[in-house]
Amino acid sequence: MVYLLKKPGNKVFLKSIRIRNFKSIEDLTLELKPGINLFVGANRAGKTNILEAIRFLYKALIADANKTPYLPHRPHYWDPLDLVFKKDPSRYISYELTLEHFTSIKNNI
Ligand SMILES: Nc1ncnc2c1ncn2[C@@H]1O[C@H](COP(=O)(O)OP(=O)(O)OP(=O)(O)O)[C@@H](O)[C@H]1O
Ligand SMILES: [Mg+2]
Repeated sequence: MVYLLKKPGNKVFLKSIRIRNFKSIEDLTLELKPGINLFVGANRAGKTNILEAIRFLYKALIADANKTPYLPHRPHYWDPLDLVFKKDPSRYISYELTLEHFTSIKNNI
């Protein structure tokens, strides 16, 4: 899967994602459609946390082994436990993904 994400010209469509224990998200499954997907919710409902969870996973997958995969946009000290639901050390962030793989036309020539 990492190979699919890293190869130039490749396109990977995220069809569905289940996110568990990331920030305010205890257990959420999203079915995504091609094109624009809109998240609607009240302030602090967790819309940005969904995007952050996906970015966190992506960064972790493509990161070089010796680089930090993810840093929140904060200049000051942060605790990695801030990323875990209710900062509960007994929980683990986990994902289930359904991906569709497209190779670009350019790549096929
Ligand atoms: N580790 C955590 N555990 C539980 N809740 C958390 C954690 N970290 C952040 N939150 C909660 O996430 C909420 C903020 O979520 P988020 O920023 O995604 O909301 P939003 O829908 O994007 O809001 P806005 O419309 O204001 O941009 C806050 O209520 C905050 O308390
Ligand atoms: Mg937001």
